[in-house]
Amino acid sequence: MEKAWWKESVIYQIYPRSFCDSNGDGIGDLPGITEKLDYLKELGVNVLWLSPVYRSPNDDNGYDISDYQAIMDEFGTMADFDELLAQAHARGLKIVMDLVVNHTSDEHPWFVESRRSKNSPKRDFYIWREGKDGKEPNNWGSSFSGPAWTLDEATGMYYLHCFSPKQPDLNWDNPQVRQAVFDMMTWWCEKGIDGFRMDVISMISKREGLPDVPTGGAPYGPCNLGCCNGPHVHEYLQEMRQKVLSHYDLLTVGECAGVTIDQAKQYANAQGTELNMVFQFEHVDLDGGDPAVGKWSTRKMDLVALKKLLSRWQDELDEVAWNSLYFCNHDQPRIVSRLGDDSPRYREISAKSIATCLHMMQGTPYVYQGEELGMTNAPFRSIEDYRDLESINAWRDLSTRGVMPEGELMAAIAYKSRDNARTPFQWDDSPNAGFTTGTPWIMVNPNYAEINAKEQLGRADSVFHYYQKLIALRRRSPDSDLIVYGKYRLILPEDPQLFAYTRTLGDKTLLTVCNLSGAPADFTPPAELAGTSARLLIANWKTAPAAPAAMTFQPWQAAVWVLVD
Ligand code: NOJ
Repeated sequence: MEKAWWKESVIYQIYPRSFCDSNGDGIGDLPGITEKLDYLKELGVNVLWLSPVYRSPNDDNGYDISDYQAIMDEFGTMADFDELLAQAHARGLKIVMDLVVNHTSDEHPWFVESRRSKNSPKRDFYIWREGKDGKEPNNWGSSFSGPAWTLDEATGMYYLHCFSPKQPDLNWDNPQVRQAVFDMMTWWCEKGIDGFRMDVISMISKREGLPDVPTGGAPYGPCNLGCCNGPHVHEYLQEMRQKVLSHYDLLTVGECAGVTIDQAKQYANAQGTELNMVFQFEHVDLDGGDPAVGKWSTRKMDLVALKKLLSRWQDELDEVAWNSLYFCNHDQPRIVSRLGDDSPRYREISAKSIATCLHMMQGTPYVYQGEELGMTNAPFRSIEDYRDLESINAWRDLSTRGVMPEGELMAAIAYKSRDNARTPFQWDDSPNAGFTTGTPWIMVNPNYAEINAKEQLGRADSVFHYYQKLIALRRRSPDSDLIVYGKYRLILPEDPQLFAYTRTLGDKTLLTVCNLSGAPADFTPPAELAGTSARLLIANWKTAPAAPAAMTFQPWQAAVWVLVD
C-alpha cells in the first residue's frame, strides 16, 4: 500500500464557536484557538480541522457562508487567521479548512444578485424552478424539516435548499459556479492551508429532472434521495482535482451522506483522482428510528451490527481506498453517552475502550474537541436550552405532526441533538469551565467541575493521557506502520460484548480486544495466535497479561497486544 502523510495523521476537529473565547463575548474565536495550540501539541495530533470560520449570518453556525474570503466577525479578522496558521505551522500542526460549497448563505452576494430577477447574470448560480399545481416543484424535504423549496416573492419562483431556507443550493451544473468555487479554493491554498473537509460534497449533483422521491408517509421525502451521489458528482470532483487539488499537497476528506462502500471506493480511490477519504454515515445511522422520525430515537446501537458494519468498511476499502475513523463530530452526540456509559463509575473506562477500538483500526482517526476528555451529552431540559436549528425545527415539526409522544420526542432530542457536541470545551473548574469570562452562547455542561482539561492534564490515568498514548503509538512508535497500514481482520464476529480484531503487517500482528459492554466478558484467544511472542501495547485497566490469554474482560476493559512470529 502506498504511504502518505495523511494516512499517518491524527486529526483534531475544532468547533471554533465553542472552543475558547479570548475576548469575553461568550463566543469562541481564532485568537482563542491560537492560545490553545500548545495543548493540542501536547495531545499529539498533527492536523487541525476548523469548522467554518468564514463570514456568516450564522443561521447554521457558519455552515451558511456569505463571504468565503472573509472571517466571521465573532471569530476575529483575517490577520487573526494568518497568525493562527503561522503559529500552528511553527508547531508542526497543519490546518484543514471546512469547505461548504453545496450551498451558500442567502446573504452571499451571488444569491442576492441571483434572486433579483429572472434575467440576473447570476440567476443560474442557484436552482430555481416554477411551482407545480400551486405547490413546490417537487416533494423533496429539507434535512432540517419542512420543504426543500422556498417561494421567492421577487420573481414568484422557488429555490432549492437541502438545508435551511437561508442555505440555497448552488447549481454545480453551471461551469461558472464550479470555476468560482475552484478560484476561491485556490486562494486559500495559496495562503498555505493544508487541506479541505468538504461539507456534504456527495450532494452537489442533483438527479436529472429533479424527480419526486418516496416519502414513507411523511409530507416530504428526504432530499438526500434526489441529491446524494448524483450523476455528475465524480466528474465534478475530478475536475476539482485537476484544477485545484493536484497543484498542492493537501488532505481532503469528503462528508458523504448516503455513501455506500462501492461509491466510497470511487470517491476515495487509491489512484487519487478524487478525494483522500470520505466520512460515511452507516455506523452513526445504526441507532436511528423509523423513516417517519429519522434519527430522532433513543434506541441503542446493536454491537454485533456495528462490528460487522465497520469491519465491512475495513475489509472492502483495504488497498483500494482509505477509511476515515470517527465516532464524534459537531453533528453527533457524545460517544461516551451514546455507545459508552457516562455514569461516574464507567465514564472514563468506557471512553478509553471505545477510543482503543477506533484508533487501532486502519484509516485516519478524527478526534472531536472534548472527546479526549470523555466529555458527555448535556442535561438539556427544555426546548429553550437548544440553539441548533435542526433540533428546534425537528421538535416543532414532529410535535405538530404528532408522530411521537411529547416525552419520547424530548428524550430523543436530548439524546441525539447536535448541541450535545457544541457545549463549550471544559478547560478547568473555574466559572463557565474557563471557556469565557462572558455569557456563553450555549449552556456549559454543569459537569465541568469533574470533567475538565486541567484536572486531566495533572492525572496520569486520565482519558486525556490515554488518548495521548493512543495517538503516540500511531504517530511515532516502533509499531506505527503496523497500526497505520496493517491488514484488518475481525475475530469473534458474533460475540455480543467484545469487539476484537487483528491487524497484520509482515511478521507482526496487533490484537485488539475491547469489551464494549458493562458486564464481564470471557475471552479466549484464537488458536492461531497461540505460541507467538507477545507484548502488551496499551490497556485501560490496572492489570493485563503480557500476552493474550484466556481471561475475563471486566466491564469496558480493553487491551492491545503486539504478537511477533
Ligand atoms: C453538514 C455539516 O456537518 C452540518 O453541521 C451542517 O448543518 C450541514 N452540513 C449543512 O451545511
